Amino acid sequence: MEENSIKNILNTAKSEHTLTKPDIVNLLQNGGDALINAADSVRRKYIGDGVYIRALIEFSNYCTRTCYYCGLRAENNRVHRYRMSPEEIAANSYAAIEKGFKTIVLQSGEDCGFSVDEVCRVIERIKKKDVAVTLSLGEKSFEEYSRLKSAGADRYLLRIETANKELYKKYHPKMSFENRLRCLEDLRKLGYEVGTGSLIGLEGQTVEMIAEDVLFFKEIDADMLGIGVFIPHPDTPLGTAAAGDFNLTLRMIAICRLLLPDINIPATTAMETLKPEGRKLALSAGANVVMLNAAENVDYKKEYSIYPDKAGVNERLEESLSALEISLAKIGRKIIMSSGFRYNNRCG
Ligand code: 5AD
Repeated sequence: MEENSIKNILNTAKSEHTLTKPDIVNLLQNGGDALINAADSVRRKYIGDGVYIRALIEFSNYCTRTCYYCGLRAENNRVHRYRMSPEEIAANSYAAIEKGFKTIVLQSGEDCGFSVDEVCRVIERIKKKDVAVTLSLGEKSFEEYSRLKSAGADRYLLRIETANKELYKKYHPKMSFENRLRCLEDLRKLGYEVGTGSLIGLEGQTVEMIAEDVLFFKEIDADMLGIGVFIPHPDTPLGTAAAGDFNLTLRMIAICRLLLPDINIPATTAMETLKPEGRKLALSAGANVVMLNAAENVDYKKEYSIYPDKAGVNERLEESLSALEISLAKIGRKIIMSSGFRYNNRCG
């Protein structure tokens, strides 16, 4: 009986790309291989077997926020803080561009020591080359997002983390859920491709709340979705909490692919960190993007410790790239050296 109804739900999802909240909850709880395979086939239909790669430059780990789960929270004084110079960021970007990367992702904590003007100058330098620039710098004003866009930024990542206001409040002291929504709306108005996403496995998070995250992504028509799995960091208030459920996160990725068939979904580093081959499993459950860390100085990668034992921190970019090529070949996939905007995908 249950198997049949899962089958029906998947048929609806595959043809209409919409589902009710109870159906999403059912899939989150009971979706097995059939769910994963349905997402994989929708991914193949809309996007093909290519995997977009992005060069990630985590240019500063300073952060003024105190999110309870994150190792970079301002109150963690065991992190060695660093801030790359604009020259270093440009040099790292150019090195990645020479290796063929067509998207540079600039990410940092919410660092007030790095002005928006400085970031604008860096964007202008990178945009002299024919590449897309994605930013992930946290909450800013409309005017700041506007200046960054004018400097040449194409996309922006800002996870809602959870679309449930109460849960959001619990984990983000002194932050405002309304302001986060405002940021996502402003980014859209300004013409960015907008990425958001959520963190799976926070204590107090129910499957109903995760289903609401999916409906939220659908409602705002997110162009990119980073679905992370919670990994406890010892130097945070959640240091002794249990890690999130890998398979639940995989099902979440699959459902997002079914409902937003043409968007870009990365196989996140958190998935690879929590489980060996986690990245490959995510790519086989709907994901189509991999972000590789492009910092030439490996010490920076280690210090960007959002959670402990992050996968790949000791690898150089060329090593990560060839390891990725080999593992993709095993699942019949291949790297595509393209800037990989969402509109490049709409071929379903
Ligand atoms: N485990 C997994 N993901 C985390 N993030 C922050 N802390 C953790 C953690 N302990 C994620 C957040 C943030 C992204 C940059 O990293 O979702 O948006």
